[in-house]
Amino acid sequence: VLNLAAPTAPGWATRMRAQLDDVLVDHAHCEKKAASTAVSLLFRYPERTTLLAPLAALAREELTHFEQVLAVLAARGLAFHRQVPSPYAAALTKAIDPQEPARLVDTLLCMALIEARSCERMKLLADALADDPLLASLYGGLLASEARHHHAYVALAEALAPAATVRARLRELAVHEAAVLAATPPMARLHA
Ligand SMILES: [Fe+2]
Ligand SMILES: [Fe+2]
Repeated sequence: VLNLAAPTAPGWATRMRAQLDDVLVDHAHCEKKAASTAVSLLFRYPERTTLLAPLAALAREELTHFEQVLAVLAARGLAFHRQVPSPYAAALTKAIDPQEPARLVDTLLCMALIEARSCERMKLLADALADDPLLASLYGGLLASEARHHHAYVALAEALAPAATVRARLRELAVHEAAVLAATPPMARLHA
């Protein structure tokens, strides 16, 4: 359903559990970045009218998630701070075709894959943190939104190019995503 080419390696959530403070700060950064990317697409493609309302709604929702994670940080007495990001997103988006209109379709599909991986990993975290009601409910609540965002980005791409072409490209980019993740050094990050 999530169109991922490979599942997360076993033991990932246990490792993240041992470095939860860093993972939570990273998670806040991820939600902020998701909002920022949606807004940046509104600036880059103002003439693509089918994108405008869905991306605006997505950006608003991601900022709500950012606020939710900030509240969890505050509840745990953690301060939000700068972090070295996982190299995952930069490596993933290297596969984007630089020529339009493929560039836009590829960008939407890379966003779809990031959302899918977030959803998969939030499920793993919700299960691994079942004994922590605050965190289990944070991850259990967010993962449905991230699944919906995955499908929303794929649908936006399918509105711009033939569905069969989009599906084939999504499969290619999913294989790339899994390879990027496998090559990412272990870090206390949602996408590492
Ligand atoms: Fe989110
Ligand atoms: Fe999302």
